[in-house]
Amino acid sequence: MTKKTIALIVLTMFLLTLGLAGCGGQQAAKSAEQSAAKTLKVGSDTAFAPFEVQDEKTKEYVGFDMDLIKALGKQMGIPVEVQSMNFDGLIPALEAGNIDMVISAMTITPERAQKVNFSKPYYKSGLSMVVKSDNNTLKSFKDLEGKRIAVQIGTTGADEAKKIKDAKIREFNTAPEAFLELKAGGVDAVVNDLPVNEYYIAQAGGKDAKIVGEPLTSEDYGIATAKKNTELGNKINKALDELKQNGEYEKIYIKWFGKKPPQ
Ligand code: ARG
Repeated sequence: MTKKTIALIVLTMFLLTLGLAGCGGQQAAKSAEQSAAKTLKVGSDTAFAPFEVQDEKTKEYVGFDMDLIKALGKQMGIPVEVQSMNFDGLIPALEAGNIDMVISAMTITPERAQKVNFSKPYYKSGLSMVVKSDNNTLKSFKDLEGKRIAVQIGTTGADEAKKIKDAKIREFNTAPEAFLELKAGGVDAVVNDLPVNEYYIAQAGGKDAKIVGEPLTSEDYGIATAKKNTELGNKINKALDELKQNGEYEKIYIKWFGKKPPQ
């Protein structure tokens, strides 16, 4: 072999290797892009224990909704990633296409259903009221007329509180802020979802606050998706049915509420 031939062979091999590496690189880039595109972005207001709350130590989002959405993602074979945002920004974010779905203890209401699609109900809830432990005058919703009430902005609790005659409504970005205001004496009551009120009393507010009266409403929580993304909505409903059938839903429910889900 002449020197020239050897040089040619080496050059050819070099170019071939380059070409192959290039292809591999391209492929790797493509599959990363595909899987990144596939990860579903889930919006949630993560200050609503026991549905969604940030673990102080691990910084992870935990709760009934968080376990449910992870299980649903697994069932659908699509990874999910939770993004924390204000409750009143969730539906706009979904409409703008910034997130793919919302799980945030969100009540299925006719007004919201005009803007987004809801999954089948996944949790039965309702509104209740919380007052200071030493308050003996406020016993039910009718006693709230003319009173100062704290609520979370954009919630069904805010909507219902606004219907109460002469009530002075103070709106907060998060439910914990509303509870803090009650503790500080700035309001007479908090109107908020019953399971969240119960959790607050059991965990933090036990000595300061109590739940009084009967629940005001009966509400169903649903997972919201964009109107145009019916494919995802259908997948979520199918996966939800499957988790109910295979016992996974019940396991998660018992983990967070200590009892079996109502039939
Ligand atoms: N269920 C109520 C509603 O839909 C309150 C939900 C608040 N959720 C939250 N993660 N902060 O309006």
